[in-house]
Amino acid sequence: MAVIAVGGITKQYRGRRGTTALQAVDLTLAEGAVLGLLGQNGAGKTTLIKILAGLLRPDAGGGHVLGYDLLREAPRLRAAVSLVAPTAEVGLDNNLTVRQNLVFWAPIYGLYGAHARRRIDELLARLGLEDKANAWPMHISAGQRQRLALARSLLAENRLIFLDEPTNKLDAEGVRSVRTLVAELNQRHGMTVVLTTHVMEEAEELCTEVALLHRGVVVAHDETPSLLRSLHQERPIDLDIMLRGRPVHVPPAEVFPAAVRVDTVLGDQGATLAVTIWSRDVPATTPAVVAWIREAQLPVRRMTSRRMTLEDVFQLAREPAPEPDQ
Ligand SMILES: Nc1ncnc2c1ncn2[C@@H]1O[C@H](COP(=O)(O)OP(=O)(O)OP(=O)(O)O)[C@@H](O)[C@H]1O
Ligand SMILES: [Mg+2]
Repeated sequence: MAVIAVGGITKQYRGRRGTTALQAVDLTLAEGAVLGLLGQNGAGKTTLIKILAGLLRPDAGGGHVLGYDLLREAPRLRAAVSLVAPTAEVGLDNNLTVRQNLVFWAPIYGLYGAHARRRIDELLARLGLEDKANAWPMHISAGQRQRLALARSLLAENRLIFLDEPTNKLDAEGVRSVRTLVAELNQRHGMTVVLTTHVMEEAEELCTEVALLHRGVVVAHDETPSLLRSLHQERPIDLDIMLRGRPVHVPPAEVFPAAVRVDTVLGDQGATLAVTIWSRDVPATTPAVVAWIREAQLPVRRMTSRRMTLEDVFQLAREPAPEPDQ
């Protein structure tokens, strides 16, 4: 069953410049999935999850989330989903301890008595907050406050949870515990999860499917393994060449084994040339690149092969590399 089935979602923020945050976004998500909304700052991730959680009304488009009509049943939708905002401090009472905060919220989420106490203990343990149970929220770290906010939203036992940058601001251990928890919520409790991130590795590790959001448009949406397969086929080899007033002839991709594309960008006001050779097999390409550098006696300042960054992903998603035989 589709937990999310929306189409044509468009949102424009008014104001002097009138930002179009989302442009005709279609999204379908099956029950039990973990969807990663991956995009750079300002891509529209938060706007999209606010709309899907019934907190923000789209200007155009609509559909259903958990069977609720996005436009007509927003209040009921809001009550049926959990959302953890990146500004996790919102909704935490500084006059109550960590545990008291959860005790305060439990009845609001329909939990009472021994059942509530058990659930609170369980959540404190799972989020590594046991030894902070009696501390004041302002005396725990930002990451711990974020985990407390997560615990609060999990009191509700909803089927669908939205996590807006759940590992933002957390240290390595915090990141680990949140990631483990997300996997557990999904695998053990069957929750459907939608999370936003701009860390590709996070999407890779946690998400069964990934949607790439770029300037309000979904440029790709696929199951994580197939999306990664298509993206990881290519790896960039970067060269920084100092021009020293003489032109450099950059050979086409065909000259380098396993290379599919060569991009060049002039930098430092024409003093350097950045060359990126996209390779399907870096060890096969590198010797030919080194041979070219030697033969042309190029003053190369730096040569590195790296994992793809989010910027690369969007570049490739927007303008697919030409077929090697073209
Ligand atoms: N309340 C608002 N008023 C005006 N413009 C807004 C508002 N909220 C967001 N925007 C703009 O809408 C666009 C999308 O913002 P959004 O917060 O959805 O992006 P995001 O992908 O969540 O970014 P980030 O990774 O920085 O959290 C941005 O250009 C942003 O400046
Ligand atoms: Mg955001």
